[in-house]
Amino acid sequence: MTSIPRDQWYVAAYSSEIREELFSRTICGEPILFWRTRSGQVTAVSDRCVHRRFPLSQAPSRLVADQVVCGYHGFTYGTDGKCVSVPGQTRIPRTARLRGYPLVEQDRFVWVFIGDPAKADASSIPRAPYLDSPDYTTVAGMEPLKARFSLLVDNLLDLSHETYLHGGYIGTPEVASTPITTEVDEEAGIVYVSRHMDDAECPPFYAKSTGLQGRIARWQDIEYSPPCLYKLHSRIAPVGSVPHSDGTDPDAFHVEVVYAITPETEHSTHDFWSVARDFALGDDEVSAFLAENNRTVVLQDVVALDVLEQVIATEPEGYQELSVNIDTGGLAARRMLQRLAAANQAPATAS
Ligand code: FES
Ligand SMILES: [Fe+2]
Repeated sequence: MTSIPRDQWYVAAYSSEIREELFSRTICGEPILFWRTRSGQVTAVSDRCVHRRFPLSQAPSRLVADQVVCGYHGFTYGTDGKCVSVPGQTRIPRTARLRGYPLVEQDRFVWVFIGDPAKADASSIPRAPYLDSPDYTTVAGMEPLKARFSLLVDNLLDLSHETYLHGGYIGTPEVASTPITTEVDEEAGIVYVSRHMDDAECPPFYAKSTGLQGRIARWQDIEYSPPCLYKLHSRIAPVGSVPHSDGTDPDAFHVEVVYAITPETEHSTHDFWSVARDFALGDDEVSAFLAENNRTVVLQDVVALDVLEQVIATEPEGYQELSVNIDTGGLAARRMLQRLAAANQAPATAS
């Protein structure tokens, strides 16, 4: 019984992480080997040699002309995972093939499909176009989390914790005290959570990056596409300013905070975070400030969630929680995740 939904797309890496060298990352419990071919394509195959399971990412395994040579006995594989050479014989066993993973590179992410490859539909991958747009400047990182991915989902769907866990960075009293609205689009599979603070303190994170001082209008509009992609559309503007009726919003600063929440195992998570802004484009000082500050904020969550994982791992099955209004979005997300995971456990129907 697993809580990780399969037959789903997950972010495995940033595009920039995959170069012409062997790179390994475990996604949903599966060790996957990546490399970029000389023509620029990204390859994703199992990181276990079919012979004796030696990790192909492990030296002295190596990449030779777009083929990976196992460092133990030399089985050699092509980009499609098919074995092309076996030591000591010319016949290559028919089953000598690494499992391949459907892969899509877009929005500066490398997405892989975990589950039955026949179900992989690239058009269902949620988009984050700001990350690859000249109209935005983006800083990004990834932090390893020693906690189950659902704890990070809970965390990101309820931003009232900013006031307490992230005071002095992004938290101000108004975040916790302003009610949220939650909407669920079952058909599209999206949970929306909004909090519009029309007269709020400007936290240092935004005061220093935008130059706005004193009171601000601060809107937080969350759009979560379970299981992996979370977007926080953040709007910071002078008090009283609203977007124009034609959709433009010239007085406001916009920050798109994007998280990719990728299970590494049942109890650990890759926490990919990006902050894309539509102001101070190309300003390295602002970039350095936002990168440093957001990483600090992410690490505050990591510390808290790592502790929480330890605690709940020792709780008896079915431990009690008490949910309140701020949890509405998180509970909606949990229900969607449970449905996705349950779909994997449904007995296959005979056709
Ligand atoms: S384990 Fe890879 S060739 Fe033997
Ligand atoms: Fe947080």
